[in-house]
Amino acid sequence: MIKVGIMNVTGYAGGELARLLYSHPETRLTSVTGRSEAGKRLADVFPHLACYELKIAPELDLVDFVYSALPHAASAEAVAPLVRAGVPVVDISADFRLRDPAEYAAWYGVEHPAPDLLQQAVYGLTELNRAPVQHGRLVANPGCYPEAALLALAPAANAGVIEHDVVIDSKSGVTGAGRGLSLTTHLGEAGESVSAYGLSGHRHLPEIVQELAKCFPPVEAPQPVHPRVTFTPHLVPITRGILSTCYAPLTPAWAAENREPGKAIRSLYEEFYAGEPFVRVTDAPPATKHTRGSNMCLVYPTVDERARRLVVVSVLDNLVKGAAGQAIQNMNAMLGLPETLGLDMPAVYP
Ligand SMILES: NC(=O)c1ccc[n+]([C@@H]2O[C@H](COP(=O)([O-])OP(=O)(O)OC[C@H]3O[C@@H](n4cnc5c(N)ncnc54)[C@H](OP(=O)(O)O)[C@@H]3O)[C@@H](O)[C@H]2O)c1
Repeated sequence: MIKVGIMNVTGYAGGELARLLYSHPETRLTSVTGRSEAGKRLADVFPHLACYELKIAPELDLVDFVYSALPHAASAEAVAPLVRAGVPVVDISADFRLRDPAEYAAWYGVEHPAPDLLQQAVYGLTELNRAPVQHGRLVANPGCYPEAALLALAPAANAGVIEHDVVIDSKSGVTGAGRGLSLTTHLGEAGESVSAYGLSGHRHLPEIVQELAKCFPPVEAPQPVHPRVTFTPHLVPITRGILSTCYAPLTPAWAAENREPGKAIRSLYEEFYAGEPFVRVTDAPPATKHTRGSNMCLVYPTVDERARRLVVVSVLDNLVKGAAGQAIQNMNAMLGLPETLGLDMPAVYP
């Protein structure tokens, strides 16, 4: 059995990791940390995790594999000594997602605590970056919004279907903002209401731009051409789930070559994701409820022929494919295990 530890089990992402790891056949969760709840039994903090005998400790015990579900900055500080000691890590925070430490400082408002590790960090969207993840020792789990947007747009960008000009309209449930209390996410404010936020620039925007740039076909330039991206997140009154509707103009060349663009786009997406256990191209626009509690991302591509625009709807559970499930998929890939281990379950419905 591979001994696994979770740093900061008391947040939503950490708690979800513990829930999913319980049924993982090759690993055993042996150490969990927390700050204010240190000393308590995991079951006392999360009654749904009464299956565990574990106690929450202030520091991690010796383990073979570490997940960090700490907030940004605190995560890099805690992860750095482990990575330097050779322990494989999946970091669920944003700390190792952006390549450029100056960009990290600009968006996160702090100097990067371990900039020397950025070069070895691998962006952990397994479907788009499988070989580097398999060889990675420090894997940066993607943000939940970037994950939904990148899986929606990657096949089209890769095949030269769309221009470098994208609009991403996303809706998220309240757990996306974490377990800490805030006025905007409590029931009286978020219930029976929908609101846009982050219009002046959300922290997930530079991550989307950085990774989407790599999806477009290489051009004769030293660096990938960065797409223009307008990303507007919305808060909706559900517990879990992200739905993103992504729009991009078709390239004139692709539009001219494809007389039945709706059919062509579907076969392109089906081919791109053939054999992927956690991405499914659907026949009808999916709903967040179709992925609740599962590691699936459902993608529905179509073409608005009047406007000559690609429209792709994607849904996932922000705590599973958008966080803990993706982290386990990455761990499986890093350890040479089948990617589906511990994750092969249908969504909870209704
Ligand atoms: N929620 C999501 O959908 C989601 C998706 C993808 C990635 N993530 C990332 O996952 C990480 C955890 O997110 P979350 O949503 O699970 O957070 P959360 O539910 O808000 O939990 C945050 C926890 O962090 C602890 N904490 C706060 N500051 C700390 C510090 N400086 N050192 C140690 N512990 C600290 C708090 O516990 P005490 O105050 O009790 O110690 C709290 O339990 C974040 O980096 C987030 O960006 C979250």
